[in-house]
Amino acid sequence: MADLLAEFKPPVVSFHFGLPSEALLAQVRGWGAKVLASATTVDEALWLDAHGADAVIAQGLEAGGHRGHFLSHDLTKQLGTFALLPQLVRAIKLPVIAAGGIADADGVAAAMALGAAGVQVGTAYMLTPEATTTAIHRAVLKSDAARHTALTNLFTGRPARGIVNRVMRELGPIGPAPEFPLATSGIAPLRAKAEAQGSGDLSPLWSGQNATGCREVSSAEVTSALAQGFHASL
Ligand SMILES: Cc1cc2nc3c(=O)[nH]c(=O)nc-3n(C[C@H](O)[C@H](O)[C@H](O)COP(=O)(O)O)c2cc1C
Repeated sequence: MADLLAEFKPPVVSFHFGLPSEALLAQVRGWGAKVLASATTVDEALWLDAHGADAVIAQGLEAGGHRGHFLSHDLTKQLGTFALLPQLVRAIKLPVIAAGGIADADGVAAAMALGAAGVQVGTAYMLTPEATTTAIHRAVLKSDAARHTALTNLFTGRPARGIVNRVMRELGPIGPAPEFPLATSGIAPLRAKAEAQGSGDLSPLWSGQNATGCREVSSAEVTSALAQGFHASL
């Protein structure tokens, strides 16, 4: 993957689940990229600071998709965004980017007030035409079901936040799944069969705890609306 990326020389490369080997990191730095990585605890932020990250993403428990934890798998150590963010701002000198539950300009302004250098938003983009979100997933994101999310390991083997569906209710949400990433292929045939029948009962319906920012407008429009909160905080 790094060889492929090297042709495009992206100015920023962001890692989840810690950092890769020193050799791989050196390759990424070799084309001048800045390195970002997610921290879910103060210990992880200190580790990333000591191992050469240029900025740290404070990923709060509200965030959609995979938890980026890498030093401990103990989920009780995971913090909410506005508990984690100010602690990281105090603990490290690197810029801290807030992630998790930020869905509108007020959320951005609140994160900036707590010392964030920027924000990272995922869930609010999931109804945009640029996102590859499936039709089934889009329908659930637009429904009241999106108000109930949980961390589940059933779809990939690692805890990730998604909208609660039948398989999460019946097997988990943290249940007997093969190790990451083997669970993905384990559930794939069941998922394909259910999706062919128009059902999201066996699909990962990734979403953060705050899906209220999801709108069927372009990503550019979502970004400029969020940026109002950044400008308001200056
Ligand atoms: C569908 C989905 C996929 C994601 N995939 C990745 C990923 O591949 N790498 C990563 O660093 N973060 C990933 N994230 C996490 C986001 O970077 C970010 O932490 C999170 O979306 C912020 O919280 P929010 O979902 O409440 O906006 C993903 C999030 C979602 C919703």
